[in-house]
This record gives sequence, C-alpha cells and structure tokens, in this order.
Amino acid sequence: REAPPLKGRRILVTSGPTHEPIDPVRYIANRSSGKQGHAIAAAAQAAGAEVVLVAGPVEVPDPRGVRVIHVESAREMIAAVEENLPVDAAVFAAAVADWRVADAAEQKIKKGADGAPALHLVENPDILASIARHHTLRPRLVVGFAAETERVVAHAREKLARKGCDWIVANDVSPATGIMGGDANTVHLVTAGGVEDWPSASKSEVARHLVARIAAELAGGNA
Ligand code: C5P
Repeated sequence: REAPPLKGRRILVTSGPTHEPIDPVRYIANRSSGKQGHAIAAAAQAAGAEVVLVAGPVEVPDPRGVRVIHVESAREMIAAVEENLPVDAAVFAAAVADWRVADAAEQKIKKGADGAPALHLVENPDILASIARHHTLRPRLVVGFAAETERVVAHAREKLARKGCDWIVANDVSPATGIMGGDANTVHLVTAGGVEDWPSASKSEVARHLVARIAAELAGGNA
C-alpha cells in the first residue's frame, strides 16, 4: 500500500471571514461561509497531512482530525498563523477584512443627537503577503485566493505578483454565480506557468483537486 500523499507534511489553512469590532456589539466583515477553506483543511487531513486550520467566525463545523484555532480579527489571525510556522504549504482561503476601526469603542455606541458616528478605518495586515515574503519561515508553497466579480484571471495574475505567492486560486463570486455561500465552485488555478480552468465542482472536490496538486508539488521538489 502506498503512503498517503501528504504524510509527514504540515499544512496551514486560513478560512472564513474576520470580524473587526466597531464596538462590543458591532463589527465590519467580509462575506465568507468558510466552506471552501474548511474543505481544503479536511482534504489535506484526509491526504495524511498534519493540518492547522486558523478559522474566523463561521457556522461550518470544525473538520475532524484537524487542529483548529478560532480567531475573530485579522490581527488575531496573523498572530495564530505566525505561531504555527514553519509549515510545508500554506493556503490562505480566509476573506480577511481589509480595514479595521482604528479605535474600537469599549462600550456600545449609543444613538444620539449628533447623528451617525464616523468610523476611522486603518488597514489590516496582509497575512498572505507577509507570510509569502517572510525572510526565514516562508512555506515552500504559498497559495492565495482571489474572489473577484470581474476580470477574474487578470486580477489573479496581478495578485500573484503583488503578494509574492506561488499560486492563486481565483473564483468569480459575482452574485449570479451562486458561489458565495453555495456548495459548488468554479475556479482557475493561476501560477507562474499559466492558468488552468477547472471544471465546476463541489467545494470538497475542488479541495481534493487542490490538495492533490499541492502533494505533487511538494513531492516534486522532494525534501
Ligand atoms: O487582495 P485580496 O484581499 O483580494 O487577496 C485575497 C488573498 O489574500 C486571499 O488569499 C486572502 O486570504 C489573502 N489576504 C490576507 N490578508 C489580508 C487580505 C487578504 O491573507 N489582509
């Protein structure tokens, strides 16, 4: 019998949204069910990897056999990711909020006579870019996601260069596709070598396909 393809490999996955507090009861977030990221963690575990899943707030259950670290904000997410390096490959499927409120209120903001409060936003750390450019602990394979509503592949190619990652899994999330929150996905794998258009499949099939590609890539470089 052959050994499982990812036996002996450590894989890190981020999944879900992040929540950035405005006050104790309100937050800013991106839309993300966590279905695709969690499916990738589950598929990597099934392929024999030791998997760490850093998950934002999601409804989907923790995949079995996977170490799950639950976080809320982007800053908590990057801290959890850094604490769990080194890994052989990292897949950044989380929909991280690009901005957070500079000074989240400690008490619930009350509706008042002055009208709506103005939020002062500051940029969150880019987790994918900072791990892809990490001087000492960059994983051998760094995979990012690109959720786009137009010019999907062009944006993904640009993102590959800008973020310094190896692969981008690009998907069209315009509302008409039903991908957002749904169980199916249509993705394009964008690498330095070119673009592969994968057939529409369930998120778990897309996950298995991606994990098989990751295993082949890690095996190709041996080590
Ligand atoms: O630039 P954009 O947010 O579209 O890039 C998406 C990719 O970057 C995803 O892989 C996402 O997980 C990652 N990302 C991140 N940290 C951020 C923003 C995006 O890791 N602050």
